[in-house]
Formats: sequence, structure tokens, C-alpha cells
Amino acid sequence: DPELVKKGEKTFKKCKACHQVGDKAKNKTGPILNGIVGAAAAKADGFKYSKVMKAAAEGGLVWTDEELGAFLTKPKKYMKGTKMSFAGLKKDKDIAAVIAYLKSFPQ
Ligand code: HEM
Repeated sequence: DPELVKKGEKTFKKCKACHQVGDKAKNKTGPILNGIVGAAAAKADGFKYSKVMKAAAEGGLVWTDEELGAFLTKPKKYMKGTKMSFAGLKKDKDIAAVIAYLKSFPQ
């Protein structure tokens, strides 16, 4: 849905302080998010993840729409000890939109 992707681009402004997507994306405060939907957690080359994120990845965490949605609702509640300092997205629609936007950036 191109409208949802467009909405997600706006929502992603909240993420941009820390994350980049696209051809020239680099790790910043947060890891690159190209190809993140459906990917295993903590796979960005050269990014220093928190212990809990690494442990979750070892436990098999995959960023499905569902897991991503739960994480983005309340990052620090979903993953105690994550170094992602973001309060979360309150609206389900914003979460769906940002996920649709992220899906438009392949690995
Ligand atoms: C991790 C998405 C906002 C900093 C992650 C991960 C995702 C994500 C999917 C896991 C990446 C992976 O497993 O490779 C988002 C989205 C945001 C957002 C969609 C906006 C809605 C932010 C903001 C910051 C931030 C505003 C900085 C203040 C981080 C950091 C990590 C991370 C530091 C690594 C967490 C850890 O190792 O525990 N983010 N993020 N993110 N994000 Fe965000």
C-alpha cells in the first residue's frame, strides 16, 4: 500500500535521529535498518548491540511484523536493558506504517 509507505516515511522521522535506511545508510546511534523486517536481530555489521539484544538474537529473535510491532510499542518494556532510548509509538497505525516503510528498503 503506497499510502501506508508514505505515512511510514513521516513516522520514520522519529527514528531518524538514530537510524538510517537506503543506499548510503550507515550505523549511527542505532544500527542500519535496511532489510530489517523478517531479519534476525542484531545482524548489522560493526554495530555494538546491547547484551540483551545479543542474547535475544542468540535466542532466535526474528523481526517479524509482530515482534517489531511489540518492540516499537514500548522498546524498554519489550526488552529490558535495550539501549534503544525511545519511548515508543502509541498508535497502531503508525506502527503498521513504519513497518511498511521499512519493508521498502531491502538488505
Ligand atoms: C535497535 C527500529 C527509534 C536507537 C533497533 C532495532 C530496530 C529499531 C528494528 C533492532 C535492530 C537490529 O536488530 O539490528 C527503530 C524504529 C524507530 C527507532 C522503527 C522509530 C520508530 C530509535 C531512536 C533511537 C534508537 C529514536 C535513539 C534515541 C537504537 C539503538 C538500537 C536500536 C541504540 C540498538 C538496541 C540494543 O542493542 O539494545 N531500532 N528504532 N532507535 N535502536 Fe531503534
